[in-house]
Amino acid sequence: MTQQKDFDTVALQWDEEPRRVKLAGEIATAIKENVPLSKEWDALDFGCGTGLVTLQLAPALQSMTGIDSSSGMLERLGAKIQQSGFQNVCTELCDLGKGELPAGNYHLITSAMTLHHIKEIIPLLQSLKTLLHPGGWIALADLEAEGGRFHEDPTGVFHNGFSREELSGMLEEAGFSAISIKTATEVVKGESTFPVLLATAKSD
Ligand SMILES: C[S@@+](CC[C@H](N)C(=O)[O-])C[C@H]1O[C@@H](n2cnc3c(N)ncnc32)[C@H](O)[C@@H]1O
Repeated sequence: MTQQKDFDTVALQWDEEPRRVKLAGEIATAIKENVPLSKEWDALDFGCGTGLVTLQLAPALQSMTGIDSSSGMLERLGAKIQQSGFQNVCTELCDLGKGELPAGNYHLITSAMTLHHIKEIIPLLQSLKTLLHPGGWIALADLEAEGGRFHEDPTGVFHNGFSREELSGMLEEAGFSAISIKTATEVVKGESTFPVLLATAKSD
């Protein structure tokens, strides 16, 4: 059994990795292309980290709440919110692995590269669905099944990516409909290329 990774220790340097910033931009673009974002929507980004995706989506939404279990990551995001003057973004410390959920209802729930850090995914998706307004969207970006080659340090990695069938099956089991799985982009690491999937679905 793997333990939870301490993201606090990497928070200050998180945005200094160009590959990460590029990936976040590509995931945000894929979400914008596949979900009809609205300035009337309240959104939740779980595992938001330093907000690399969160802050790119926020201008197209009424509000954006970034939640994360790492106070260090949220401090970095908080500083960026202040520096850039975002009025519609807030953060909340929340460990989804412990069943903690934010208050409120949302039109959209997003996540980038976080699902593989959550052990029990179907109960999480079921809980998240209760936060969505009827007809609300979920958009999840994560690695396609990669056989454990992506992370040099496997601490806190509960899933070595996901197959399309797994993602689709988990969303279906959690009660989502209109499920679509696409390749959002890919990450090049050394000699290897890792596809990143975007799963979108709706709450009835
Ligand atoms: C790989 S990072 C991705 C961060 C950000 N979405 C991005 O694309 O840069 C994974 C994030 O998920 C958060 N995380 C991991 N387990 C979590 C949990 N159980 N509850 C909430 N957040 C969690 C970590 O603290 C970290 O910020």
